[in-house]
Amino acid sequence: MPILRDAEAATHRIAQDVSLRQVVVVGAGTMGAGIAGVFARAGWVTWLHDVDPAVIERGIGRVGRDWERAVARGTLDAGQLAAAASNLRPATDLLTVLPTVTVVVEAIVEREDAKAALFATVGTHAAPDTLIASNTSSISISRLASHVAGPGRVLGLHFFNPVSSLPLVEVVRGAETTDEVVGQASEIVRGIGKTPVVVSDAPGFVGNRILLPMINEAILCLEQGVADRESIDAVMTLGMMHPIGPLALADLIGLDVCLAILEVLHRDLGQEKYRPAPSLSEMVAAGKLGRKSGEGFYAYGGTRTGP
Ligand SMILES: NC(=O)c1ccc[n+]([C@@H]2O[C@H](COP(=O)([O-])OP(=O)(O)OC[C@H]3O[C@@H](n4cnc5c(N)ncnc54)[C@H](O)[C@@H]3O)[C@@H](O)[C@H]2O)c1
Repeated sequence: MPILRDAEAATHRIAQDVSLRQVVVVGAGTMGAGIAGVFARAGWVTWLHDVDPAVIERGIGRVGRDWERAVARGTLDAGQLAAAASNLRPATDLLTVLPTVTVVVEAIVEREDAKAALFATVGTHAAPDTLIASNTSSISISRLASHVAGPGRVLGLHFFNPVSSLPLVEVVRGAETTDEVVGQASEIVRGIGKTPVVVSDAPGFVGNRILLPMINEAILCLEQGVADRESIDAVMTLGMMHPIGPLALADLIGLDVCLAILEVLHRDLGQEKYRPAPSLSEMVAAGKLGRKSGEGFYAYGGTRTGP
């Protein structure tokens, strides 16, 4: 298996050689932009790609504003901001940058067909020793790896939202992921200032398997008139010490993303308890996606009612 040996050798080189710290993040939405910002701030040359070039520009703008707030708080100085900004680069043509990077992080829409097609492209155009990671919330890493030559180098790197402030990254070991790749990916995660927790490739991994049923139950409480949205969120913030209520959190994650994760849990774990609340599907169909569309369980923007 020369490709696997190449991948293992390469991952050790990445740890030792700063010039090899080159990553492309594919998908510049809520998560992709945040992930790119964390890599760029940690000294990686970071390419950010999206099918929509306007989204890349918006993503880079969002990260820049995040860094300016960090300067204002005193957690980043002007020199560090300039260095981070020069590391973060738009990539409108994915095929041009793929052969130059040592790590790919996929953060596109939570649809298996779209991710499978992207993984096939990445597997063909990236160097055979490039680490290939998905930020998927719930889709099987082993199935995504089956579209790539050298599946031993494919794994999940599941960041949490907001990426700049939450320390956890679930490092998801697929059926074929090598121990060396898991070890090196954990080292990369620590190097960008996050905390890796290694988990197995099961639907929703650990975080979303626990979180999404809770969010779904909160939506069902709202749907069934058990309480209004503020009261449901207050029960969980004041009674359970959660920093944000489940309905506000669903808006932050994106209601389309929540629905997609629940559909995977429901289908792949085969249990009724994961069936998405009907009103969640209705809101997504109506384009109410949470913060990113301006309205979800709360309204955002000019007439903000969100927490
Ligand atoms: N939102 C969260 O809280 C959260 C948390 C952890 C993980 N995730 C996962 O991260 C991934 C991205 O989620 P998000 O919330 O950032 O979604 P998003 O909708 O904000 O962004 C997705 C982006 O992917 C782009 N895209 C779609 N197909 C593409 C392709 N083939 N090539 C390049 N770009 C493409 C879209 O244009 C869009 O900008 C999903 O897999 C999601 O499950 C989300």
